[in-house]
Amino acid sequence: MVLEKINSRKNDDLSKRIDKNKLPEHIAIIMDGNGRWATRRGLPRSFGHKRGVSVLKEILRTSKDLGCKVLTVYAFSTENWARPTKEVEYLINLFNVVLRNEIEELHQESIKIKFIGDLTPFPDSLKNIIYSSESLTKNNSSFLFNICVNYGGRQEIVKVAKELALKSFSGEINPSEVNEELFNSELLTQGIKDPELLIRTSGEKRISNFLLWQLAYSEIYISDVLWPDFNKFEFLKAIIDYQSRDRRFGGIESLSNESFEDSQYSS
Ligand code: FPP
Repeated sequence: MVLEKINSRKNDDLSKRIDKNKLPEHIAIIMDGNGRWATRRGLPRSFGHKRGVSVLKEILRTSKDLGCKVLTVYAFSTENWARPTKEVEYLINLFNVVLRNEIEELHQESIKIKFIGDLTPFPDSLKNIIYSSESLTKNNSSFLFNICVNYGGRQEIVKVAKELALKSFSGEINPSEVNEELFNSELLTQGIKDPELLIRTSGEKRISNFLLWQLAYSEIYISDVLWPDFNKFEFLKAIIDYQSRDRRFGGIESLSNESFEDSQYSS
């Protein structure tokens, strides 16, 4: 109880430092470290995934309450099939159970759910709950929650290349018309603004095949905290760090053409 009060005060203090006018609209997260969290405690890896769900719920609510618009999480990559069958089955069952338990509340909160990835290999029971969740929440407009499952960034880019090649072949488009806009329109995230901020937990400094196209200009925040220990406080820290960045998109903000001294580069 005392600890809860202290944590709540720490969160309030940090919340006050957030500039509501400079919020990232779209945040993407690689939730990493579930297995290590459990192993370090002598527990089966599944405990880390289970606890990871509670953290996800807290971060989803926090980002919505702050005023962000979209949260995209990497829940299962195309590479995750290489894990032991028992762990894969556990994760599939976890998605199923969590969705069934949470969907009504998410809907009440006007959250729209979208699954991104190739759903084909998943069992019908999971596919059915995914389709019904997407359908139930499709008109919700207060927040978009994207869950990437059996998702791979390279696979997505290949899919787009194939679609565009087919359209060129059938004469629907002229190959010379292919540009970033057309490419965007074939992505699984079409219509969704690219993430301004990518958070990865557990200290790993990799993108791991996540949203390769969409993260081109995103700010990256690496937290050393393992996902099951991540919380509102750590999330607010990530946003404050993001707000301190100078986002230039390859340009320069403070130097005008006139003030550029090329003499410093001439011999
Ligand atoms: C990475 O940690 C985590 C995952 C592969 C699974 C993440 C899934 C959840 C938190 C459940 C989400 C649920 C819904 C319904 C969206 P890891 O296992 O790779 O950890 P390690 O690197 O320490 O082994």
